[in-house]
Amino acid sequence: MMKLDTKLSHLGRTPVNTPDTVNVPMHRASTVLFDSLAQLHETQRRWEADEQIPTYGVFNMPQALALENAVAEIEGGYRAVTFPSGLAAVAGALLAVVKSGDHVLMTDSCYGPSRRFCETFLNRMGVETTFYDPLLGAGIAALIRPNTTVVYAESPGSHTFEIQDIPAMAKAAHAKGAVVMMDNAWATGLFFNAFEHGADLVIQPATKYYAGHSDVLIGLVIANEKTWPQLKHSAYQLGQRASPDDCFLTLRGMRTMGVRLRQHQSSALHVAKWLQTRPEVGRVLYPALETDPGHRIWKRDFIGATGLFSVELKPCSDQQLAAMIDGYELFGLGYSWGGFESLAMPADLRDGRQHRWQGGALLRFSIGLEDPDDLIRDLEAGLNRMAETNG
Ligand SMILES: Cc1ncc(COP(=O)(O)O)c(C=O)c1O
Repeated sequence: MMKLDTKLSHLGRTPVNTPDTVNVPMHRASTVLFDSLAQLHETQRRWEADEQIPTYGVFNMPQALALENAVAEIEGGYRAVTFPSGLAAVAGALLAVVKSGDHVLMTDSCYGPSRRFCETFLNRMGVETTFYDPLLGAGIAALIRPNTTVVYAESPGSHTFEIQDIPAMAKAAHAKGAVVMMDNAWATGLFFNAFEHGADLVIQPATKYYAGHSDVLIGLVIANEKTWPQLKHSAYQLGQRASPDDCFLTLRGMRTMGVRLRQHQSSALHVAKWLQTRPEVGRVLYPALETDPGHRIWKRDFIGATGLFSVELKPCSDQQLAAMIDGYELFGLGYSWGGFESLAMPADLRDGRQHRWQGGALLRFSIGLEDPDDLIRDLEAGLNRMAETNG
């Protein structure tokens, strides 16, 4: 049985067509040609029987198939499909399961646009969503209704980093016949096997750590055997897939994900511990820290932590915050995370969260692959600018 790092190197390389090269040769195609009518019918029959056979466009074409099969195995699932972004994967996973009249339970700590998809699209389709307290654990059972078809988790939560008790929630959900979905962008399958902890469908915004270089938008949904037929057909009906170029770049990023994630983890821990010593910082929200409320469950269920965490700042003015952030030399100001470069982003929790964050202003850091001592110097200079600015 190969270890995950070996899989990162060796999966998704099945050569299609000779010559036998290290990487899957780039295949751009809309059209697959058949030799005969008999072969066309045979291909159709085999596709319907779930064979991985190219038929048309992006379905089962070499780049996508290599990536889908590799990610399915890294995440611990059965099969996967690509989507053109992480958010499209969130929407695709939900649309694979829900129908009018259903009820969805979604964590209140989810990525904001995932919440808005439920509040707008699903709502218009007659699907009601309840946003639950991310720390409910087994208590989610009390919120499950006869028409609840999805329990949606994201752990740790966006910006606020709550660690969810996925096994307890999955047990409650499965007892009532609901499908468990999880956005596993932060940990990836390397650091959290969502399927082993009870998920049925896993969303992987591969824009972040899989691609890893801030140059691709791509998402995948990975299914277990039970949910695969629903995912396969709904992805086919939605007609959304990632391009071969983006699949190629994501496979290329994936090769180094193991070394990158371990470096992100070590640097993030170093920077987070330094931030904890600073008087301007109220608290660092990073499950790998022993002081973090989610640490116990993180240690029980996760194998590692990645490079993203938040800092709760002691009260400061907008001018002070701007003086700190605007002067950063290494930290960029940008919405994404998971790339090789460090980023900062203030959290805007006015996105309708009901179980409100009770603390002060949050600043999220994505710790990149720079030397962590240089990052600390940049952060220290920023905190000094903040102190020198009149509020
Ligand atoms: C947790 C989480 N899920 C999903 C997404 C969406 O991914 P994409 O930007 O590829 O649409 C993001 C993007 O920031 C995210 O942070």
